[in-house]
Amino acid sequence: MLKLPGLIDLHVHFREPGATHKEDWDTGTSAALAGGFTMVLAMPNTQPPIFDAETLDLALNAAKRKARCDYGQYVGAGPDNADVVAALADKAAALKMYLDMTFGELRLDDMILWMPHFQKYPKEYPIVVHSESRSMAAAILFAAIYDRPVHIAHISLREEVLLIKAAKEKGIKVTCEVCPHHLFLTQPSPSGRGQGEGEKPRIDGRFEVRPRLATQKDMDALWENLDVIDCFATDHAPHTLEEKDSDNPPPGFPGLETALPLLFTAVEGGRLTIEALIQRMHTNPKRIFSLPDQPETWIEVDENASYEIKASEQFTRCGWTPFEGWKVKGKVRKVVLRGKTAFEDGKIMVQPGYGENIRK
Ligand code: DOR
Ligand code: ZN
Repeated sequence: MLKLPGLIDLHVHFREPGATHKEDWDTGTSAALAGGFTMVLAMPNTQPPIFDAETLDLALNAAKRKARCDYGQYVGAGPDNADVVAALADKAAALKMYLDMTFGELRLDDMILWMPHFQKYPKEYPIVVHSESRSMAAAILFAAIYDRPVHIAHISLREEVLLIKAAKEKGIKVTCEVCPHHLFLTQPSPSGRGQGEGEKPRIDGRFEVRPRLATQKDMDALWENLDVIDCFATDHAPHTLEEKDSDNPPPGFPGLETALPLLFTAVEGGRLTIEALIQRMHTNPKRIFSLPDQPETWIEVDENASYEIKASEQFTRCGWTPFEGWKVKGKVRKVVLRGKTAFEDGKIMVQPGYGENIRK
């Protein structure tokens, strides 16, 4: 049995408030514990979005009642809330800015709207940006100009990892994360579905995710530049199968219960070391986000367990995984959180409300 520190996922979507048929704080944090995570940071693109004191309280109150592992809640950057969110910084995980189109309503198109956030959000916390390709380059320029930490969410492209490498060499305060799905999946060819008259061929809804799955060349570049990548984050973004298979599939994959087995299998295959995994799933997230210690907290992983990933065994409410049937090695047997066994042999052992807010 391998004993590791409690894993930290700095990028999850729990859908509460607003869309608890996809996930809520109870099922989301249960999935986290089953996946070996003892701390999660939740994104603000809920309904309503989390962007002021009132909505932050809404999310934190739900979390306080229902979370089974420790948690933080991001606030979202809106067109005119820079003062409001800066004042909430000590209660929030960090600030999230959406610079590109995705699920939810928080996108900030106009650079003039980015400026007050970069000026005002306290520099002891990073600004996390959803920024792809050229908007990522713009976000890095903002980090340089305003001389403040910026964390780039879910990078997926060769050009992105190479630009971040160059920016780090210049001393710009930029960090980044990669999601397992961008390390293990590439863009499938468009299926015949949706090929009615006048319709473009399209990607099967189950594979829709933002940023999109990329090419083999992009995926190889991520693996070749692992030293540039600070964190692994799941971007756990549950949507139901009915929604994913509909005519208007929302983007996103669940990821909390598959991240560790997938990455551990890469360790077994010699593509990654266990030390590099711990750095990216514990040490670096903790440092970048100034997260507190979790005393008497660890996980135990059976390194010899070989098995198939099955959605039917998961705790997430969404009921599916893009990794169905994948053969992996490494099973989380036990999670101890602040002195208490929180998960053991497939069972959640702590009640809703056991989780603590990481910003007191
Ligand atoms: O695929 C995605 N799903 N990308 C995002 O940025 C948002 C997420 C969601 O909330 O569903
Ligand atoms: Zn996300």
